Amino acid sequence: MKSLPMLRQSRRLATTLLSAILVASAASTFAAPTDTTSPLHLNANENLFGFSPKAQEAVIKAVESGNFYNRNELDDLAVMLAKKEGVTKDYIQLTHGSGPMLLMTAATYGKPGANIVTTSPGYPQLTGAFAQRGGSIKYTPVGANLGYDFKAMLAAIDANTAIVYVCNPNNPTGVLANPTELRNFIMAVPENVLVFVDEAYLELANTDLAANTMTPLVKLRKNLIVSRTFSKGYALAGFRVGYGTGNPEVLAKVRANDTGTAPSFLAAIAAKASLADTEHLQGNIKKYREIRAYTMKELDRLGLKHSDAQGAFVIFKAGIEAKEFQKKMLEKKIQVNTVFGVAPGQEGEYKDWIRVSIGTQEDMELFIGATASILGKS
Ligand SMILES: Cc1ncc(COP(=O)(O)O)c(C=O)c1O
Repeated sequence: MKSLPMLRQSRRLATTLLSAILVASAASTFAAPTDTTSPLHLNANENLFGFSPKAQEAVIKAVESGNFYNRNELDDLAVMLAKKEGVTKDYIQLTHGSGPMLLMTAATYGKPGANIVTTSPGYPQLTGAFAQRGGSIKYTPVGANLGYDFKAMLAAIDANTAIVYVCNPNNPTGVLANPTELRNFIMAVPENVLVFVDEAYLELANTDLAANTMTPLVKLRKNLIVSRTFSKGYALAGFRVGYGTGNPEVLAKVRANDTGTAPSFLAAIAAKASLADTEHLQGNIKKYREIRAYTMKELDRLGLKHSDAQGAFVIFKAGIEAKEFQKKMLEKKIQVNTVFGVAPGQEGEYKDWIRVSIGTQEDMELFIGATASILGKS
C-alpha cells in the first residue's frame, strides 16, 4: 500500500505530466479557429487578437491545481487591481465578467417607483435588469454626433432616480465622452443618486485609459461605481473576469445581491498574468486603433454615415432595413448586429443602422467588400 506522501507524489506526477503535455502543445492550441465554413463573428465584440500567451502559459501550469478552491488568487488579483486603480483593496469588487456587477447593482436599486436615467441607444444589461425589478427607465436621446447629452441627463434626474448609468465609450454607438464634461456631470448629479460608469471598452479608446477613466472620482464621490472587464482589451471573455471600483460601503450594499459571482481560480490566474503583460495589452490596443480607423475610413469612402467610434465596434447607417442587411451579410458568412437599447418610440431612427465589431484587418476588408457589394457601391 502506498503511504500518504507517496500517494500525493504520484498524483502530483500525473498532473504535472498533464500540464507538461498541455504546455508543449500551447502554441498550436492558441491558434484562432480556422473553420472557414462558420460565419465571421463581427456581432459580439469579441477580441479576435487573442489573450496574452503568458496568461495561457500560467493557466496551463495552474490546471493541475484545479481540484483546490481558490487560495490567494482572488486576493492577489484584488491587490493588483487596487494598486492599478490607486485605491485600497476594499474598493474593489471582483466578479465573473463585469456583467454580474451590473446585474447585482440593478438588483440592489431596482424596485417599483424608482427610475434609472440612461442614454438611447445604450447598453441594456443594467437598465433591463433594473426594469425587471419593477423600476422604470428614463431614456435621454444621444446628442450631436451620437455623443452624450449630459444636460438632458441631468434634467431627467428626479426625486425617484436611483441610478444614472453611463457607458463610456457607449455601446452600441462607440462614442467616447469628453472626460472633463463627464467628470463635471458626475459631480453635478445629486449625491443620493448612484452614478454607474461602465468602462468595458475604455482601454481601446484613441487616448490612454488614464486620461478618460472616472475611477479616481470614487475617492471624491461616495455614490459612484466604475466597472471594467477583462473580456475586451485583455481578450479574456471566456474566462469571465470583471470588477467594480467604488466606496466600500456602496460595494457592501451591492454585494448583498451577489449570487456567488467571483471569478474562478483559473480565471484569476489568467487575469493576473494578463495584467502583468502590458506589452500584449498595448499590442491589442494598437490593433484596435488602426483597424477601427481603417474601417471608418472605408465607410467614409463608401459614403456611409458612421459614429466616431472608440470601442470594439462602429455603427453606421446602411440605408436599407437593418434586418435585411444583416440577412444579406449572413449569406456572405458575416454576422453583424443591429442597434439596440433604443427608447420605445425612437426605434425608427435606427432601423437602418448596423453595429459591426472590429475584427482583424483581413476580417474588416472582407466586411467592407461585402458591404459595398450588398449596397451596390464600389
Ligand atoms: C458595455 C458593456 N458592459 C458590460 C458588458 C459585460 O461583459 P462581461 O460580462 O464580459 O464583462 C458588455 C458585454 O459585451 C458590454 O458591452
